[in-house]
Amino acid sequence: MDSIYRYPHYYEIAYSYRNIPAEVDVMEEAIRKYSKIPVHTVLELACGNSPHMVELATRGYEYCGLDLNPTMIEFAQNKASAHNLDVRFYLANFIDFRLEGPKDFIYIMLGSLYVNNADELVSHFSNVYKALKPGGLYFLDWCIDFSPLDNSEDSWVMRRDGITVSTRYTTRLRNAAEQLYEENILFTIRDRGRQQKLLHTGIRRAIFPQEFVLAATKLNDFELLGWWNDWNWNRPLGEGRGEIIRPITILRKI
Ligand SMILES: C[S@@+](CC[C@H](N)C(=O)[O-])C[C@H]1O[C@@H](n2cnc3c(N)ncnc32)[C@H](O)[C@@H]1O
Repeated sequence: MDSIYRYPHYYEIAYSYRNIPAEVDVMEEAIRKYSKIPVHTVLELACGNSPHMVELATRGYEYCGLDLNPTMIEFAQNKASAHNLDVRFYLANFIDFRLEGPKDFIYIMLGSLYVNNADELVSHFSNVYKALKPGGLYFLDWCIDFSPLDNSEDSWVMRRDGITVSTRYTTRLRNAAEQLYEENILFTIRDRGRQQKLLHTGIRRAIFPQEFVLAATKLNDFELLGWWNDWNWNRPLGEGRGEIIRPITILRKI
């Protein structure tokens, strides 16, 4: 079956449940609360279709995106051109990348921090460190596994322009000791009478909070400013606070 990442248009519809202006509000509030530097340049890691790009550019930020999938980058580049935006894309791996100069703010969305082992996690932080100005923030959406690994399942349906994308997301535990699980994202698409199925399947390595903190703040010089549940400043993560939904985490380069 073809991969969901070869069809960015369907990917964009499937993940359009997010309130992008509200998410950019939260990022701006993070900057106001915690950044030690003014923010003009922003870099999205694993940018894919760059869902926040237009909103950020409209608010005056200079956007750059980095991804290793050329089809996703081409889609984002076309979207930028359609909006007359002057943006920059890097075809690169966030485990090991170089930019021509450091940015003021870096972010990564939807748990896209795919690493295969602890070395890659440490390498990721050391490259993000180099790509960020001192005092700047690294904002992460859903990249830490705050709960023990388990089999899980979620599904939702999104519609746009006569196209329906039904998504089924599942995880299956593969090796608890190695923190590995299989992730499957299945799209069933109905596009003007035609039905098609697309699948992304891959082995993911869970990143637990202790390991995240060690790699970011002990093996690299980031400060952990905190983590919050459901993108909500009134819900800092802690013991006994119920189900964890799309947590955000904020680091600052010392
Ligand atoms: C879940 S999508 C996120 C897309 C977009 N940022 C969003 O918020 O919807 C994950 C993206 O991560 C990219 N990706 C996965 N591993 C990567 C890596 N090691 N370096 C750069 N990009 C990567 C994939 O190509 C894909 O476009």
